[in-house]
Amino acid sequence: MLDKMIRGAAIAAVAAMMMTGHMAMADGHAATGWTLDAGSSKLAFGSVKKETIGEVHSFETISGSVSAQGAVALEIDLTSVQTNIDIRNERFGEFVFNGAPKATLKADVNMAEMSALAIGASDVIDVEAVLSFLGADLDVEAEMFAMRISGTQVMITTNDMIFVGVEDLGITAGVDKLMELAKLSGITRTTPVTLRLIFNMDEKKAEAAPAAPVLAPVLAPVQVAAASGDVDAGKKVFKKCKACHRIKAGKNGAGPTLHNVIGAPAGAVDGFNYSEAMAGSGLVWDAETLSAFLAKPKAVVKGTTMIFKGLKKDADIANVIAYIASEAG
Ligand code: HEC
Repeated sequence: MLDKMIRGAAIAAVAAMMMTGHMAMADGHAATGWTLDAGSSKLAFGSVKKETIGEVHSFETISGSVSAQGAVALEIDLTSVQTNIDIRNERFGEFVFNGAPKATLKADVNMAEMSALAIGASDVIDVEAVLSFLGADLDVEAEMFAMRISGTQVMITTNDMIFVGVEDLGITAGVDKLMELAKLSGITRTTPVTLRLIFNMDEKKAEAAPAAPVLAPVLAPVQVAAASGDVDAGKKVFKKCKACHRIKAGKNGAGPTLHNVIGAPAGAVDGFNYSEAMAGSGLVWDAETLSAFLAKPKAVVKGTTMIFKGLKKDADIANVIAYIASEAG
């Protein structure tokens, strides 16, 4: 049962990782990885014995990361299983996990899919992963709920319960043994698994923040915005920005030049002294992130030194983005 649960958890974790990966890539710095915040993350599974007694178990030690290329890797320390009964923890290790130290989950992330996720936005994603458990590789699919909590944090949770079968996990014999040892009439042969993963963007910023790799996923929404906005009207709106911004390349004022800012990672203009908040935001400027930022700069990049209260009208925002896009090149 636990085995099943464990497997399910692993699956969920993998799924989470995958999603996270998506988000990470989406976050912007194409070359920045993500690391699991183990303290805030949780992988739990449930079991029902004798048909009526429900219990929750978990793995106390999980770790993981998402590489800059979108490769998700999650490791579950099987020896850290916590069933709240010492002897049961031991039996799990011995009979269900057969003494194996860990299970791993691997997945690849599609950056484009998550690239439009703004801070506070969420999405439900189908994740496919491979769970390596007890010497076998198991294909896993799960629906995960991903939410961008801040510029540098992503939370991935199971979208609903995930049920994992003991048989699929290959731990039927181990569960039989648990039943026998505990003199139980029955242990459920499928287990619900829940997962919460919090990922932090790695400190190291994308080296030189090459804008090119992020352009593809970002371009479509930008083109939409550019097409829907009115360039001439946007030029007028831009007067509000002119005190601090020029649109010509290399012209920094109180604010950085906005030349080719669309599609670029935040904080990437050479020679401009950005706030840590902006430099570490992990944002990529596309129609969505720009719209959110221009509506409420301080809410989107907490601690930004851009002293501007924001544009109230959606039309002004769409128009000024269209104008900025029209000046690109
Ligand atoms: C009072 C000065 C000021 C005004 C007005 C202002 N900005 Fe800014 N802007 C800044 C500063 C300073 C930064 C850098 C902020 C930081 O590092 O936290 C910035 C950053 C930005 C960035 C991020 C650039 C990058 O390279 O990541 C964008 C985009 C931006 N501003 C757009 C606008 C637009 C569009 C307007 C007008 C609607 C505007 N700003 C009005 C000062 C200003």
